[in-house]
Amino acid sequence: MTSLSIEKLHIAYGRTEAVKGVDLRIEPGHIVCLIGANGAGKTSIMRAVSGLQPARAGRIRFDGTDITGWAPHRIAAAGLRQVPEGRQIFAELTVAENLRIGAWLEPEAALRREAAMLARFPRLEERRSQLAGSLSGGEQQMLALARALMGAPKLLLLDEPSMGLAPLFVEEIFAIIAGLKSDGVTILLVEQNASAALEIADYAYVLETGRIVLQGPATDIAENQAVIAAYLGG
Ligand SMILES: Nc1ncnc2c1ncn2[C@@H]1O[C@H](COP(=O)(O)OP(=O)(O)O)[C@@H](O)[C@H]1O
Ligand SMILES: [Mg+2]
Repeated sequence: MTSLSIEKLHIAYGRTEAVKGVDLRIEPGHIVCLIGANGAGKTSIMRAVSGLQPARAGRIRFDGTDITGWAPHRIAAAGLRQVPEGRQIFAELTVAENLRIGAWLEPEAALRREAAMLARFPRLEERRSQLAGSLSGGEQQMLALARALMGAPKLLLLDEPSMGLAPLFVEEIFAIIAGLKSDGVTILLVEQNASAALEIADYAYVLETGRIVLQGPATDIAENQAVIAAYLGG
C-alpha cells in the first residue's frame, strides 16, 4: 500500500493559487524530497497533508484512507507528524517537557520513548533539564525532530530541517534523517539544501510555482542538468 498519495491537489489563498494540481506518492519506508524555490508551494502542500490548510480541490490518502478534510488531531492520531518550518518548540518548557508533549496521545509510552530519544540524541540528554529556548538553533531542530518521533509516526513531514543551521549541524541533521529510514519511518522532506536532500532521498519531486515539473529517482534528479543549474549551484 502507498503510504501517502496526493491527487490533483489545489491550494489557494483567496484568489492566489499556490498549488495547482499536484500529484505525489510516497511508498512505505521511502524518503521522498520535494525541491523548489521560495514560494513554490512546498509548505502549503505539507500543511494540507497535516490538515492545517484546507485543500481547494484534490484528494489526500494516508495508508489508503482518504484523509482529505480531516482535522489535524485526527490525522496525527492516524500516525502522521509534521516538523514545521522554524521548529516551533516550547521555549519556556524544558527539553524533557517538550519531548513528553510529543507523546500526548500515548502517555503510557512517554517515559519509555523519552529514554530512547535521549539515548539517540546525546546533545538533548545533556540538556534535558534546560529550557528549550536556551538551546542553539541546531539543538532546537533536533528537539523538534525528537518531539515528533515521540509520537512514533508512520509518516514524518520535515519542512526545511536544515534552514539556518551551522554546517556541522546540517550534516548531523541529515545523518539523523537518513538513519530514521532503518526504523521504517516514511519521510517527506522539503529542503532548500537540494544536494544534501537528494543524497539521502529515494525519490524526488521538483515544484515550480505550484506545479510538479520533474520527478524521478533521487539519483537521476541529482544528475539532471536543469536541476543542477537551478538548485545545485552548478
Ligand atoms: N497564509 C498565506 N496567505 C496568503 N498567501 C500565502 C500564505 N501562505 C503562503 N502563501 C503564498 O503561497 C505561495 C506558496 O507559499 P509556500 O507554500 O509557503 O511556499 P514554499 O514553502 O515553497 O516557500 C507563495 O506565493 C506564498 O506567498
Ligand atoms: Mg516553505
